[in-house]
Amino acid sequence: MKRPVAYFAGIGAYAPARVMRNEEFAALGLETSDEWIVQRTGIRERHIAGPDENNRTMSAIASRRAMERAGVSPGEIDLIVLGTATPDRLLPATAVDLQAELGASRAAAFDVMAACSSWLYGLIVAEGLMASGNAETALVVGTEKLSTIVDWKDRSTCVLFGDGAGAAVLKRSRQGKGILSTYMRSDGTLAELLYRPSGGAARPFDQASLDDRSIFLRMEGREVFKHAVRSMSEAADRALDGAKLTGANVDLMIPHQANVRIIEATAKHAGIPMEKVFVNVDRFGNTSSASVGLALDEAITSGRVTEGSTVLLVAFGAGFTWASLVIRF
Ligand SMILES: CC(C)(COP(=O)(O)OP(=O)(O)OC[C@H]1O[C@@H](n2cnc3c(N)ncnc32)[C@H](O)[C@@H]1OP(=O)(O)O)[C@@H](O)C(=O)NCCC(=O)NCCS
Repeated sequence: MKRPVAYFAGIGAYAPARVMRNEEFAALGLETSDEWIVQRTGIRERHIAGPDENNRTMSAIASRRAMERAGVSPGEIDLIVLGTATPDRLLPATAVDLQAELGASRAAAFDVMAACSSWLYGLIVAEGLMASGNAETALVVGTEKLSTIVDWKDRSTCVLFGDGAGAAVLKRSRQGKGILSTYMRSDGTLAELLYRPSGGAARPFDQASLDDRSIFLRMEGREVFKHAVRSMSEAADRALDGAKLTGANVDLMIPHQANVRIIEATAKHAGIPMEKVFVNVDRFGNTSSASVGLALDEAITSGRVTEGSTVLLVAFGAGFTWASLVIRF
């Protein structure tokens, strides 16, 4: 086990006020039901950003909460790593908008794009830059306005996603607490199981992409499900191995919140009972990059993560990408 370089000095999150319940999809003309969605996914409701909310505003609220808890001012931030699959603009990175919003004038800021694994990738990237002496204090954010990229006419995807943001301030570790182990992997041969066909440089946005709805997210749900369970299970194993721990040593597992059945299968594989698994997918749906930060924030504020807790974070997303960390709080 390596000596921890970085610890979590403060966590913050934000979810838009508007809550959309499963029953509301019928009003959009979709043939679905609360019963179907709850049974297949565990999701009951999700938060949806308003027209004046975007990743800049949502991530700024989450970041200010994290910075306040860490006792860190914007001028002390050396590094901002922001994960998102729904950047406010394609150029420049959303991270620099957040930097400007916060007034974090000393920071280097950039985005990571690893879909639902982005926040975990971002934490690992930030830890590496801290280890190499490029930063002392880092802000790592996951933020999504997925409501703008889902196809609201496709019942197999739009019921799954929600909006929100999560943030962590990482500082140089003291007294052995912090990130004990990390793991990250990708498999680009599977990219087209979950993607947006158009709107990028390969197939620029045009009238045809609007007409065939290819600017929206597309997914092969059943295939994604299988890979998610396999990859999250592997990621849990690798991070535990890296920390020389087993599932029995973990106080709480906080998985990416995509589907409660994926979470249950991952927990079972890792030998972690569901009492030790944090689940809030019922109230947020899948918020991609924001999901683990939102869950960690709730786990801390509800007292399920306290000083000394050993926590396993694990995520999986489009790409495919997957990642995991073991953290001592
Ligand atoms: C999407 C998902 C919930 C679908 O559940 P499933 O049990 O695999 O269901 P299937 O896709 O096989 O669809 C079964 C039927 O339900 C239908 N269906 C799909 N969405 C529906 C909805 N919202 N309401 C009602 N019926 C729906 C399908 O059309 C299909 O009908 P058919 O049998 O007549 O063709 C599930 O595959 C899943 O969660 N996958 C992973 C998605 C994910 O987490 N992605 C993000 C990863 S980070």
